[in-house]
Amino acid sequence: MREVTPKKIREMKGREKITMITAYDYPSALLADKAGIDIVFVGDSLGMVVYGEPNTLNVSMEQMVFHTRAVAKAVKRALVLADMPFGSYEVSVEEGVKNAIRLIQAGADAVKIEGGADHEKLVRKLVRMGIPVMGHTGLTPQRYLRLGGYRIMGETEEEIEEILKDAKALERAGAFAVVIEFTLADVAKLVTEEVSIPTIGIGSGPWVDGQVLVWHDLLGIYENSPPFAKRYANLGEIILKALQSYNREVKAGEFPGREHYWEFLDKDDFRRKA
Ligand code: KIV
Ligand code: NA
Repeated sequence: MREVTPKKIREMKGREKITMITAYDYPSALLADKAGIDIVFVGDSLGMVVYGEPNTLNVSMEQMVFHTRAVAKAVKRALVLADMPFGSYEVSVEEGVKNAIRLIQAGADAVKIEGGADHEKLVRKLVRMGIPVMGHTGLTPQRYLRLGGYRIMGETEEEIEEILKDAKALERAGAFAVVIEFTLADVAKLVTEEVSIPTIGIGSGPWVDGQVLVWHDLLGIYENSPPFAKRYANLGEIILKALQSYNREVKAGEFPGREHYWEFLDKDDFRRKA
């Protein structure tokens, strides 16, 4: 078992801020774990940032399983969380259970679903059988079509009530935490005060128990990042410069240089590099 458990995450509420970041492959997950981040999360946002789709609606269980396997191989300390993709848990509790099991068997320590009140039965069932669950309310990207795109939530009484209802249902059903995405900060604060489980915010202000960001947004390698994401580095520029150098050097006959190849005359010190 990894060091950071759902129980530890729960106990961090009110004591220490929880950090979470998405990762979708082995090298990224290694770095996230090394950085000391608490939760490494295989989000269905991979549909957009890795596969170039305009939304998360056609992410498959197969994609989630493959990426979860790669991330799980890398992470020793952090909690590995995997998203349940659109269509994998809405049809019936049975299907939700089967698909959650697949993610756990791919190496996840817990799964995340969008919504709360609509899935109380599924959450309770998963928790009772030993699969820790995180919920997700506020902006739920899998409702992209109904919402008419991505927008801030919690501006009306009705939306605030729906968000609170989700969080309470998740708490009641035994979820260990809840993501609150892109709500007015006051709404996230209210939810954080109203439930005993940790709230992990994204685009919802500082009055929550933790923060989550998408890998590509944080590192500057995605062109359509949301306005609330902070870019901690501009890796896109660094990568582009490296690729341009490689392209230029090959065309100019500068790469490979003398230190990158061996000829017959070198045979006596052939092992100098190999
Ligand atoms: O898939 C994802 O990256 C998410 C986070 C934005 C919470 O669900
Ligand atoms: Na997601």
